[in-house]
Order: sequence, then C-alpha cells, then structure tokens
Amino acid sequence: MPVEYKYLSEEQRAFFLKHGWIKIPQAMNPELRKLWLDDVWVRLGYDEHDPSTWTEEYVKLPRHREVRAEEFAPDAWRAACELVGSEDRVMENRERYNGDNFILNFGSDHWKTHEVPPQEVTGWHTDNDWYRQFLDSAGSALVMIHCFTDILPGGGGTLLCEDGTTELVKTLYDHPQGLEVPFAQRWTHVRNCKVFTEVTAKAGDTFICHCYTLHTASKNHHRNLRAITNPHVNLKEPFNLNRADPSDYSLVEQLILDRLGRTSLPEWHITAPRRTFYPRNYTVRASRVPEELERMIAAARAKGLGPESVDSIYLKGEEAIREHERRNGFDLPDGPNAYAKGTMMYSDDIVVKRAVDENADLSMIEPVKLGEVKA
Ligand SMILES: [Fe+2]
Repeated sequence: MPVEYKYLSEEQRAFFLKHGWIKIPQAMNPELRKLWLDDVWVRLGYDEHDPSTWTEEYVKLPRHREVRAEEFAPDAWRAACELVGSEDRVMENRERYNGDNFILNFGSDHWKTHEVPPQEVTGWHTDNDWYRQFLDSAGSALVMIHCFTDILPGGGGTLLCEDGTTELVKTLYDHPQGLEVPFAQRWTHVRNCKVFTEVTAKAGDTFICHCYTLHTASKNHHRNLRAITNPHVNLKEPFNLNRADPSDYSLVEQLILDRLGRTSLPEWHITAPRRTFYPRNYTVRASRVPEELERMIAAARAKGLGPESVDSIYLKGEEAIREHERRNGFDLPDGPNAYAKGTMMYSDDIVVKRAVDENADLSMIEPVKLGEVKA
C-alpha cells in the first residue's frame, strides 16, 4: 500500500529525510506531563531546592503509570505512524504505552564550568537493548524524546549526530549475520562527524528520531532538572528494503536506502536468526522500584493518605504487573551482556555477564566500558 500523508507536510518529510529527526511542538498531553512530573522529587528522595542532595548526575527511573501512546502525545503519534508507513505496520503489543520512566540529567558542579565538544562526548549509540541488530531490524524504528521540562542550550538535551548514519548503515549492511548489543564502541566514527544537533525544547515538545540517528546524553551545564522519556515505535515486521513499488517505502526505510545510495536491496538477506531478549537497561530502572514505592507511600502518609492513594502499576496486583511486563518485553529471557540483577546505576564498576550464545558472532563485539553506554 502506498504510504499516505495526512499529517506530515512535504517540508517536514523532507526535513526528516535530510536530518534524521523532526520536532513536534507541544505534542504531549499537558495534564499528564505535569501529573507524572509532580512526584519525581519524592521518587528520587531529593530536595528539589537543594542541589547538594542530588547525588546522581544522570538517572533512569522505572515506570509507575502508563497510557496509550496516542493518548499521551496525539500529534507525535500521528507523525510517527506516517514516518513508519502507517499505524497498521506498528506492533500492537510492544511499547504501545508511554509512561513516566524518566531519564533525568541534573548536571554537576563540574559541568557548570566545563565544556566538551560533541565529537569527544562518549556513549554514542542507537536504541537497541533487546534484539540482535540487523540492517532491517524494526524493533525501535523510531525513538521518541518527550521533553517534560524546558531544555535550554547547554541544558543536557540529547545530542544527535546527523552525519553518522551513513557509516552506521554501511556497517549493518556489511554484517548480515547481525550485531550483538551493546556495541556502542563500534560507532567511534562520530569523532569525525560534523553535523550535530542538541535537543532544545519547551516542556511538552517531542522529538522523533530515526532509529539510525546516533545519539548520546549531553552534559547539563545549568545544574537543573532535565526530564525526558524515550519510548520507541516498534514494527510488526522488519523494514522492507526491497519493495516493488517505491511509493510503499516508509520514510524510515527511504532514509536507510538514501544513506546507502540505493533504491532497493534485492541482494541483501539476513544470515543468522533473529533474536529478542529482556531489555537490559530496564534492570537498572527496575532495581529502583522498591525504594521509590517506599518513598511514595511515606509521602502519602505524610498527607494523611494510605498506600491505596499511590498510583503505581507495582501496587495494582500481580495481573497488572504481568500485563505491564508483557507490554514491554520484561517477560523475555536475558540476552547478551545483561546487567546483573539488582544493578542500580550506570558505573564503570558494573560486572557484566555475557550469556553463552552459540549463534552470536562474539568476535565482532569489542569490550564496552559500561559507563559509556547510556540508552
Ligand atoms: Fe538512546
């Protein structure tokens, strides 16, 4: 079916193909944005007004509440569906809900007075922590960056590398056997890239990025709260990079072909099985659930309310928790380089286990310094 465009203008489509991202202003439901952000300080156990209590610079929280993606950010959802071809191509049971699993960047006293050029920032990656990566993998076809707070220049907004995609897709083309995650250090070519965009936003804006737009956390030089979430749009089927009718290509597929200088790839096929597993980054988030619940319940009690007043998936009973797990792939087995259970934060000290996997081509995996891997 030819892709229809009822929401995205010709200008927006051309911008996405050129830059690998688009910005949808004020895309988010304002009530949910405020509601979910409301108890973030309680969840953290930090004093909002005392930065000396902000003990971590960069924090990933678990999810307590979630609503359907189209309810949370209707315009962003419309744009995303057109970018991937149509809503019919979107996987129904995976990441269809957006939630309050924040990624927080507080900066530090050090970064108030220090700068680093984008080429020297570490941690450049694409978002994939739950499947074997092939060129046509459409697990995280789009990366949504929902900006819950204003993000000023230098305020820790995600850094996007626009001219790093070509090298990336060529590498994936050359590895039909797939790459195993994490492979952040493969993308060292960013050191030679020149076109970078720093996410700056008004609270409520959403950035939508192509899955092969390399990105990383930037330093927050303002020592304030920068809050985002980054859900993905997952597709039912892998990208089809060999369509008979070119008008059937989605913009996401077109961008891949464009960077390869091709109009179709009839000769390209995967040569190893596809494989999915537990999203390794959620280990870090999930380990925070008990202490967050404790703080949320204590805060409710301080207001004379009981635990039943706390809104969290984790307090809604076994079935709600299992459903949440199914929606987000938490019921899958561990994959390569899973974090040890209970891992609480990113650190160079984290011990990583590598799953024994006869099918994986481990020779392609370079040692990864975990402090540099920030999805
Ligand atoms: Fe990421």
